[in-house]
Order: sequence, then C-alpha cells, then structure tokens
Amino acid sequence: MKKKIPIGELKLGMYVNLPSAWRAHPFLRNSFTITSEKQIRKLIDHGIHHVIIDVSQGTQHDGPIRKTKEPEKDFTRDLQTVASENLKEVIADKKMPPPQRAQAIHNHSVNMMKGLWENPTGEKISEFKKTVCGVVDLVFSDNAISNQLLKITSYDYDTYIHSVNVGVLAISLAREILKKHDQHDMHALGAGFFLHDIGKVYIDEAIINKPEKLNEQEMGIMRRHPAMGFKLLNETRQISIESRLIVLQHHERDNGIGYPRKLRGEDIHIYGRICSVADVFDALVSKRPYKPQLKPFDALKLMKEEMLDHLHKEVFEQFVLLFR
Ligand SMILES: [Fe+2]
Repeated sequence: MKKKIPIGELKLGMYVNLPSAWRAHPFLRNSFTITSEKQIRKLIDHGIHHVIIDVSQGTQHDGPIRKTKEPEKDFTRDLQTVASENLKEVIADKKMPPPQRAQAIHNHSVNMMKGLWENPTGEKISEFKKTVCGVVDLVFSDNAISNQLLKITSYDYDTYIHSVNVGVLAISLAREILKKHDQHDMHALGAGFFLHDIGKVYIDEAIINKPEKLNEQEMGIMRRHPAMGFKLLNETRQISIESRLIVLQHHERDNGIGYPRKLRGEDIHIYGRICSVADVFDALVSKRPYKPQLKPFDALKLMKEEMLDHLHKEVFEQFVLLFR
C-alpha cells in the first residue's frame, strides 16, 4: 500500500517511490529503502516537500518524527553539490554495468551543469572543474564507458544536455587527436568543452528557449555568448587560457564565416576546432521544433557534403571514426 507523506515524516527503513523523471530527485534509483539520514537530507535539499512510501516494502508509516524544515529558497548551491557528489559516486562505482553507469554519468553531469548555470561563481566553476576531471579520466581510461557515453542519445534539446553532449563528444575527439601530445592539459580542456556555452547565462531566456528559429536581431544577441563566456572565465580564472579559447572560438569556422571574430583556418586554435565539430554535430542530431532531427549517420553525411569548408578536415575525419 502506498501513502503520500510530508518529507518531515520520512524515516529510516521506509521504502520510497520517487518520481521517475531523473531531474525530479537526486538519486540513481526511483524506488529504494531509506538507509541513512543523508538520503533524507538530499531529498530536502532538492526541494522535495512530500514523498510516496510503500508501506508493504518498508517500515510502516507511523506519524511525524521530526519537524519539516522548509527547503531554502535558493537551493542551487546544494543542487550542484549534490549532483557533484552523485557524479563522483557513479564515477567510482565499478560494479555498475557500463550502459547504466554511462547514463548515470550523463544525467548527473546535466544536473551539475544546471546547478552551475544558476550562479556561475569562481568557487562553483572550481568545484565543477574538479568533478569534470573525473569524467575526463574515465573517458581516457575506460573504453567501455567512453563507447557507451557516445551511444547516449539524449537529444531533447536543452542547453544543459547540449553542453554535456558536446563535452563528452569533444573529450572523446580530443583523446584521439591529441593522444600523441602529452603537453595538453586534458582536465582543463574537458572543463572548457563542458563550459563552451557558459556565456548563454547572460542571454535572455526567452531567446535561449525560443521554440522557433531566431530572427536576425535575436541572432545578433545570441552571437554575443562566446565573448561573454570568455569574459566570465577570464574573470573567474579557473581554467587555462587555452581552454578559455574554446569558449571564445567554438563558433568560428575555417572559411571565415563564423563569429565573433570571423577567424580563418589556422587562426582558430585546435581546441576551438575540436569543439566546433562536436557542437555542429550535436545541433544537427538534436530535436528542435523548427528543424528536422537527423540520425548520427545522416548528420555526419550532411557535415561532409555541405559543411566541410566550415570545419577542419582532419578533425572532422577523426570525429567520423569515433562512430565506427
Ligand atoms: Fe555556442
């Protein structure tokens, strides 16, 4: 039998059924027995007021045991901390099968990204960077996980999902392209890829989330995000200058039609070129109301046939090989 109870009445031994949407709570599983106060704390910190318990599977619900603490109005700091902790736990959990582990890493990365975007301070970027290092190390050391991460098709367009998709794709691509060059700081590079669109925190949400194609004026505003993100990372000084270039240059194109500086060819840093290939690919395979959603193969075909002069040819060819 299931009962809805206030979070303040939840206690150890109770079996909870949480909403199935992964964003709705900070745990890997939707149903489980509460075994620690820390789990209850996480639910409270996540802004959850009530939970459904299954009394046939856990301790019988028998009334209030603690006063409900109202969730703080601004729980974004906690949200990010919770997401970072969860991500670290999944990264360390070698017993979880690779497909589930990859999906959990993706989910928690998106949640962590969301927490950061709410308020991107230097302190938060520093914490974010530490956690991304774990993802980068895993992509470099565990082929099963890196292959599974590439197979995740979370293509409902959302700025946070897009940032994680591009982060994962670009790290995987950088691993292949830069593997013979050990002078590259892959941790800083990974953080730069994940944060490539961070400048969008300054763009009006109505433009970011507009379901239709942007008009010229809105595009003009949107084109400011690389420089704004670069400025933010310069001010917070949490990632290397080369990695900040990822943020500034990921919309530059080899043939000079990109923005903000209309750079050409070799004037675009290799990090920016890697990110632009991953960014274009994810935009093509993402679901948006105003454009067809392409399958990965068709996106690669279109990039080859119609966009090759925009992209660095060798970087693109290496990118295609990731999908063998
Ligand atoms: Fe962008």
